[in-house]
Amino acid sequence: MSYAVVFIKNITILLWHWPFGHSYRLSGDKCLTMFNISHCSLTDNTSTFSTADVVVFHHQELSRGLSSLPLHLDRPASQHWVWLSMEPPVNNANLSRFNGLFNWTMSYRRDADIFIPYGKTIMKRDDLGFQAVSNRSCLVSWVVSKYRPQQARAGIYESLKKYIPIEVYGKWNKKPLSDKKLLPTIAKCLFYLSFENSEAKDYITEKLWRNAFQAGVIPVVLGPSRATYEAVAPPHSFIHVADFKHTADLATYLKHVIADRQTYEMYFKWHRTHRIKTYTDWRERLCQICVKYPNLPVNKVYQDLERWVNN
Ligand SMILES: *[C@@H]1O[C@H](CO)[C@@H](O)[C@H](O)[C@H]1NC(C)=O
Ligand SMILES: *[C@@H]1O[C@H](CO)[C@@H](O)[C@H](O)[C@H]1NC(C)=O
Ligand SMILES: *[C@@H]1O[C@H](CO)[C@@H](O)[C@H](O)[C@H]1NC(C)=O
Ligand SMILES: *[C@@H]1O[C@H](CO)[C@@H](O)[C@H](O)[C@H]1NC(C)=O
Ligand SMILES: *[C@@H]1O[C@H](CO)[C@@H](O)[C@H](O)[C@H]1NC(C)=O
Repeated sequence: MSYAVVFIKNITILLWHWPFGHSYRLSGDKCLTMFNISHCSLTDNTSTFSTADVVVFHHQELSRGLSSLPLHLDRPASQHWVWLSMEPPVNNANLSRFNGLFNWTMSYRRDADIFIPYGKTIMKRDDLGFQAVSNRSCLVSWVVSKYRPQQARAGIYESLKKYIPIEVYGKWNKKPLSDKKLLPTIAKCLFYLSFENSEAKDYITEKLWRNAFQAGVIPVVLGPSRATYEAVAPPHSFIHVADFKHTADLATYLKHVIADRQTYEMYFKWHRTHRIKTYTDWRERLCQICVKYPNLPVNKVYQDLERWVNN
């Protein structure tokens, strides 16, 4: 009689620097204890470079010169370098000098090697019979911290507010909301303007997943195409700005939705069958590398990272 023993390799992931300088505790086996992902160790100790299986570099610090690639060190032949960014292309400057250095990309893009969305839709096992709340004191809200008149979302807001009242919060309007107040405030309204600051391929952020869906309101979205939202969001869960030729038509439609109970409730049906999960903790995103590791491409090199990001 013989026994086959399967040794599952432990994967070591080195985070070269923390995104935006905000660090999280890595002591203990965080992937296992927090996310039930085994054989996956995270470290931010750069002295372990020579033994790491994967080294992750967050783009913003590299591009701004706050951190640099360890090009002076011997890079183990089996080690993979990961380019990480959750920002749209317009925020990712200085890409061409990183051509030919990375093996994998990690981003909100669905075609990244390691796809890490801001949120996702999950099928529910039980029908909990969600009740659409219709007792709201305002029509539409929007939270915006950096208002730029030249952005598409600013133009739509300026036009839409001529037809319907919009309650605006955030730094721009000098009405900032604390984390605790954010969702309860949004939940007082029927709709939320989930307007992305940049219209880019697959760029759908917490403005949809957290601000609208977790507050239980109907999102009016501006961002990638309707097809992209349909691919990732729950069925019949949003109103897309691009479906209307004029903002006046959008305003008319919003008024129709609230006047017609059946139309309104259609946007809440998905709560019975689906739920939303959001990702906010960088550790959970890093642990995802281990989940995907066995299926990641070997011998891949991003010779033209600049083109990949901007395509
Ligand atoms: C943890 O993961 C294991 C293996 O993937 C699974 O069998 C188990 O049910 C999970 N436990 C929890 C609490 O999710
Ligand atoms: C970092 O790693 C090096 C090499 O393994 C080790 O000698 C050192 O003690 C580690 N530092 C910390 C703070 O864990
Ligand atoms: C790009 O790199 C240059 C110098 O290498 C630097 O001066 C500039 O600030 C960088 N741009 C951004 C947006 O980080
Ligand atoms: C509706 O909202 C008002 C004011 O916010 C509150 O007083 C009332 O109890 C609510 N009614 C229901 C059925 O929730
Ligand atoms: C990773 O990319 C580098 C190019 O920067 C390449 O030399 C190396 O072979 C690649 N490593 C793996 C394990 O594919």
